[in-house]
Amino acid sequence: MHIEQASDSHLETVLHVERTAFGYDKEAELVRDLLHDPTALPRLSLLAFEGERAVGHVLFTSARLEDAPDPASIALLAPLAVMPEFQSRGVGGRLIERGLQMLTESGVDLIFVLGHPGYYPRYGFEPAGRLGFAAPYPIPDEHAEAWMVQALRAGVIGTTRGTVICADALDEPEHWRE
Ligand SMILES: CC(C)(COP(=O)(O)OP(=O)(O)OC[C@H]1O[C@@H](n2cnc3c(N)ncnc32)[C@H](O)[C@@H]1OP(=O)(O)O)[C@@H](O)C(=O)NCCC(=O)NCCS
Repeated sequence: MHIEQASDSHLETVLHVERTAFGYDKEAELVRDLLHDPTALPRLSLLAFEGERAVGHVLFTSARLEDAPDPASIALLAPLAVMPEFQSRGVGGRLIERGLQMLTESGVDLIFVLGHPGYYPRYGFEPAGRLGFAAPYPIPDEHAEAWMVQALRAGVIGTTRGTVICADALDEPEHWRE
């Protein structure tokens, strides 16, 4: 398996992976919107290939912290998608790890995700609310563990906090219901 940055020419491939992994169109539409959203920049879109076949995709988009005591460079991971027949082979994990490595190199401090609380902690995420980071829209208490963060720079958690403001295309309540 190898991982590549997705270019404009990969758009249909990316959307196909998203649609097939989720089994419906909503996430593919969100990805298409985010890929055309200037407020999502800088953006990192990675495709995983098995031979010639695209089997997974992850998108990271820029965000910012409102009312933060210390400025921090932050990004959101959304969505992550692996084709059904390639799931549970580490493709999702490798996409996350490659993305985190590239974002660390480009100076990002914190990565946020709203996702499965049984999955993302495997790759270093922990619940964000109790660390002082609010999601763009309130997450109900019963899903609080689904709002997670990972620090890419030592010392940043504990010195800053605030509310995450996401890219315009993600800034709708429907995207924040877990
Ligand atoms: C969730 C998803 C991205 C994981 O990708 P993957 O390549 O299968 O994941 P990995 O191989 O890195 O990890 C697989 C492990 O995670 C577990 N896992 C997968 N989805 C999980 C979930 N929702 N909650 C808890 N654990 C989960 C698997 O059971 C497997 O466990 P095992 O190693 O003990 O067998 C993939 O299943 C997928 O695309 N699902 C549909 C779309 C989706 O829900 N995306 C996530 C949006 S937050």
